[in-house]
Amino acid sequence: MSQSLNQIRSRVRNRIRDAVIRRHKRSGYVLFSDTTLRDGEQMPGATLEPDEKVRIALALEEAGVHSLDAGFPASSQADVVAIQKMTQVVKRPVLTALCRTVRADVDAAEFALAGNPVHKKGVSLFCGTSPLHRQHKLQKSRSEVLRIITDSISYAAEKFKIIAFSPEDASRTEPDFLCECYRHAIDAGATAIGFPDTVGVLTPEKSADAIRLIQDNVPNLESVLLAVHFHNDLGLAVANTLAAVAAGANVVQCTVNGIGERAGNASLEEVAMALHVNRDQYGRRFRVDLSRLFPLCRLVEDLTGVSLPRMKPVGGENIFATEAGIHQDGLIKNRDTYLPFYPETVGADGLQFVLGRHSGRRAVAHRLQALGHVCSEAELDAVVGLIKQQPKGVVIDDDRLLQLIAGDHA
Ligand code: KIV
Ligand code: ZN
Repeated sequence: MSQSLNQIRSRVRNRIRDAVIRRHKRSGYVLFSDTTLRDGEQMPGATLEPDEKVRIALALEEAGVHSLDAGFPASSQADVVAIQKMTQVVKRPVLTALCRTVRADVDAAEFALAGNPVHKKGVSLFCGTSPLHRQHKLQKSRSEVLRIITDSISYAAEKFKIIAFSPEDASRTEPDFLCECYRHAIDAGATAIGFPDTVGVLTPEKSADAIRLIQDNVPNLESVLLAVHFHNDLGLAVANTLAAVAAGANVVQCTVNGIGERAGNASLEEVAMALHVNRDQYGRRFRVDLSRLFPLCRLVEDLTGVSLPRMKPVGGENIFATEAGIHQDGLIKNRDTYLPFYPETVGADGLQFVLGRHSGRRAVAHRLQALGHVCSEAELDAVVGLIKQQPKGVVIDDDRLLQLIAGDHA
């Protein structure tokens, strides 16, 4: 009796879940799945303590990401602890745990995620499917791989309602076999399928083709979400992600600052800003709070110790700084002249007019005025001249500027 009640409950939950997936697909929203705490942390030197992971998870929750790839429980006890801690405090995003297509990994994920309700936890299973992986890594035939996929996903479906399956090295897997893997995974109970470009070899055109291939050849696709995961070995992870979105992907998997295996993953802040700035082109809505991005980039930089290049798009120190006279003049007249988006849009402090050899009169006058110093045209010419003569490495901060205007040239 209680068995059949449980079965009825489970069927109802599955129907609700399927309806949610279908509604989401119709809405056209792009969901952000963050893997900073898993693929990002996998990067040598980016190791995070459980409490640091929780801080990043909370910041990602504030930023509005849909799900967090929270760690790989079977790979380390620290990941188990971190996930358990996250289940205590992270409430809105779905927390998922990475698993090989192995029952024991699913058990480890179940244990780590025990604190979360069924609709806020899931597993993300992966299995190498390319000829290289089958032959050299797994030593398994195609049919053995299919059996492993079916077995592990069926097992996961006894414990989880949210199950993603990714054929590792999907971009180098034979198209017919790739689609067969997806078909088996969906039949066994997967609710999302991932397309990982594991070694980052694709171009935007090939990425879009891959999405279309899946759409055309996986008949049961309408009941699952299609997620993409691009690595950045050719510097194309963001471009490939955008191409996949344009072709109809539902979920983008990214990391903050683009950290991750080798050259990293698609950067969350870049994908979000590209979709925002080009919303006329993509026409896809998403729920990331853009004003959280800059602080998020800084937090991940601080906690991982992986420092950002100054000119890193969106999060870099140089993004709202300029020394060039023509740019400074234009920005003073109208910020749109030399900005693709405003500092406050991404939660950064503001424009930074660096004074140096390339600066012009207008920026110097502007700075002096902000310091309450009104000067004549002749004084302005003189101080601009002095600034241009400063040796390499001299920083013209406010104190130095006032010294120069006061005639202290030492
Ligand atoms: O890049 C990759 O293939 C992965 C898998 C674990 C999905 O990160
Ligand atoms: Zn990856």
